[in-house]
Amino acid sequence: GASTTLFEAVGGEPTFRKLVDEFYAGVATDPLLRPMYPEDLGPAADRMTLFLMQYWGGPNTYSAQRGHPRLRMRHAPFRIGEAERDAWLRQMRRAVDRLELEPEVAGTLWDYLERAAYFMVNATEDP
Ligand code: HEM
Repeated sequence: GASTTLFEAVGGEPTFRKLVDEFYAGVATDPLLRPMYPEDLGPAADRMTLFLMQYWGGPNTYSAQRGHPRLRMRHAPFRIGEAERDAWLRQMRRAVDRLELEPEVAGTLWDYLERAAYFMVNATEDP
């Protein structure tokens, strides 16, 4: 119904865990992205999972642990140009496709992720 959150509609925490596990499996093999992330991807995967769950109407565990998301600020230490953005989106696209969600809900999720990734760019290709 209209009051169902996307968090609930996609199956709650297990679905977000699966999405982020798939995403980080891609990051682990991505030559551009892998060096940007900490050696142990586990805690990073946890932060991403909790953030996405909270964003889509699930429990507010992310903010309880990390405070206000301030995602652009938290990404400031990383150089994110178009190439990094596109690599991130490529891995995330794979991960979303693996979930085999209903097209409408997959579209809603993807539109957000794509907009958020464009918003996170903080460096131009040319010096
Ligand atoms: C953290 C890269 C886009 C959500 C990080 C980290 C890196 C990174 C290297 C640090 C890993 C860690 O230790 O947590 C990138 C790149 C992006 C991108 C290259 C390309 C556009 C996004 C987008 C979102 C997002 C679009 C949300 C939809 C997060 C979250 C964290 C994080 C929630 C953990 C923040 C914290 O609590 O410290 N990202 N990211 N990122 N990213 Fe991204």
